Amino acid sequence: KQISIIGVPMDLGQSRRGVDMGPSAIRYAGVVERLEKLNYEIHDMGDIEIGRPSKDEEVNDGNLKYLRAVSEASDKLALEVNRVIESKSFPLIFGGDHSIAIGTLAGISKHYKNLGVIWYDAHGDLNTSETSPSGNIHGMPLAVSLGIGHPALINIAGYSPKVRPENIVIIGARSLDEGERVLIREKGIKVYTMHEIDRLGMTKVMEEAVSYLKSKTDGVHLSLDLDGIDPSDAPGVGTPVLGGISYRESHLAMEILEESNIITSAEFVEVNPILDERNKTATVAVALMGSLFGEKLL
Ligand code: ARG
Ligand code: MN
Ligand code: MN
Ligand code: MN
Repeated sequence: KQISIIGVPMDLGQSRRGVDMGPSAIRYAGVVERLEKLNYEIHDMGDIEIGRPSKDEEVNDGNLKYLRAVSEASDKLALEVNRVIESKSFPLIFGGDHSIAIGTLAGISKHYKNLGVIWYDAHGDLNTSETSPSGNIHGMPLAVSLGIGHPALINIAGYSPKVRPENIVIIGARSLDEGERVLIREKGIKVYTMHEIDRLGMTKVMEEAVSYLKSKTDGVHLSLDLDGIDPSDAPGVGTPVLGGISYRESHLAMEILEESNIITSAEFVEVNPILDERNKTATVAVALMGSLFGEKLL
């Protein structure tokens, strides 16, 4: 059993500096040792190199901040992820902001006929340059992966779309922009908002999500944005939203995914150590990876 770690020190997909230090913070929280204890062979591939464009490159294509830098980074990440999958290792990617999912999915999806995606997040990340209130590309990667967005983003790795709407499950949503709501309805994307999590409980939500994806997909990518978790448990994120998924519910979710055996790749994004309290958020991320990869108390 092999896991290959790829760090992506990307902070240009949003406006709060510091999330580029996420991969270091996650490594510092002991991820390699933690997963080695579970009898995985860990290969740390190091970090993707991210350019440092000047401030005047910030808005260079309509409402898309740092489009060129984000698209170049996505290209590099897609190549690296592709290489990991070809070597039969499990790709585990550390962000960086959520714009990196564009490159991750570009590298993964061509290896599957029907890739499923679990998007664990307070947000939908379904904006386009037309609907985005911020111009921040980290609010767009799921739309991009559906083939909706700027050509320089949707065509990474030379194909589009990367996922079908019916193969996506969003979990933890509590902040959606109007354009995202329209897209969710139009495409029939499955969403478990905080309302459903409160009402049904995390066990039922995850069991439904697993059975929804299991029959129709041949691989499932987990894209976990730490802001999906409540800011009291994960304060080190750039766009915190109150009323999130608890630490305990998140562990339960990871355990159910582990039991289901459907997850074939994963990424943990938006850890910002500058905004954090003594590396709490990276520590939560590593603890959740423990559960995702089979850690048991007894
Ligand atoms: N919806 C907002 C936007 O488009 C916030 C997106 C937050 N995304 C994230 N990956 N944290 O700007
Ligand atoms: Mn080896
Ligand atoms: Mn988010
Ligand atoms: Mn996100």
